Amino acid sequence: MTEVAVRLEDVRHVFPGEPPVEAVAEASLEVERGAFVSLLGPSGCGKSTLLRVLAGLIEPTAGTATIDGESTVGQPGLAAFMPQRDLLLPWRRVEANAVLGAEIAGVPAAEARRQATALYERFGLEGFERSWPGQLSGGMRQRLALLRTFLMPRDTLLLDEPFGALDAMTRREMQEWLEGVWARDGRTVLLVTHDVDEALLLSDVVYVMSPRPGRITARIEVGLDRPLKTGDVTTAEFVELKAAVLEALGSE
Ligand SMILES: Nc1ncnc2c1ncn2[C@@H]1O[C@H](COP(=O)(O)OP(=O)(O)OP(=O)(O)O)[C@@H](O)[C@H]1O
Ligand SMILES: [Mg+2]
Repeated sequence: MTEVAVRLEDVRHVFPGEPPVEAVAEASLEVERGAFVSLLGPSGCGKSTLLRVLAGLIEPTAGTATIDGESTVGQPGLAAFMPQRDLLLPWRRVEANAVLGAEIAGVPAAEARRQATALYERFGLEGFERSWPGQLSGGMRQRLALLRTFLMPRDTLLLDEPFGALDAMTRREMQEWLEGVWARDGRTVLLVTHDVDEALLLSDVVYVMSPRPGRITARIEVGLDRPLKTGDVTTAEFVELKAAVLEALGSE
C-alpha cells in the first residue's frame, strides 16, 4: 500500500477584506510518500495560498490539510517550507542563514552546522560560507534558501517557485541539479510553479489549477524515465504530455 504524505481535501480559501478575495474555490490533492509532485497554474490562482495552508501558516476557510495524517491547521512546521520570496537574512552570513530553519526546528546548533558543512559542495556554495547573502548571485541565493529548507529535519518539502527569479538557462541547470539532489535524498516534494516544462521535467504527477478562484482541473501522471536531460523536452512523449497540460491550463 502506498502512503499519502500530503493531502488537501476540498480546501477553499477566502481572504477576508473589503471586498473579500476568493483565492481558492476548491482543491483536493494527494502526494505519495517519496514522490515529486508539482502544482501548476497561472499567476494568482492560489498556489502559494495552498502551500501556506500546508505549511500551517493559513487556516483554510473550508476543507482539510494534512501532512502525514496530521492536520496542519495551527500547526506550522510539519513540513519544510521554502516560501516564494527567499527571505534570507541579509545580516547573517551564508552559514548562519543555512542553519536557521534547522535551528528553529530544534536541531542543536553544532549539529545543524555539521550537516550544513556536508552539503555546501552539493549546493554549489562551497567557499562562500562566510559571505553575506548580498554577495551571492540570484542562483546562489536560491540554492542557499533550498539548502536551508533541506536542512530542516522533515520528510516533506514544500517549495514555492524555487527558481522563480532565474533566467531560462540557469533555471534549467538548477532543475537538473534539484532532480539529482532529490533523487539522492528520497524525500517527498510538492513544488509550486507556473513553468510547464519545469513541472513535467521534475515530477511524477502534475496537478493543474484554473485561474483564480483556483480549482484543480487536471491530475496528470508523468512517469518519464529518470534522470531527465534537457533534450528530453523534444521527445514525442514529452510533447504529448505538454499538450495535455496546456489543454488543462486553457480549459477554464
Ligand atoms: N494575504 C492576502 N490577503 C488578501 N489577498 C491575498 C493574500 N494573499 C494572496 N491574496 C490573493 O489571493 C490570490 C491568490 O494568491 P496566491 O499568492 O496564492 O497566488 P499564486 O498562484 O501563488 O500566484 P503567483 O504565481 O503569482 O505566485 C491572489 O488574487 C492574491 O492577490
Ligand atoms: Mg505564488
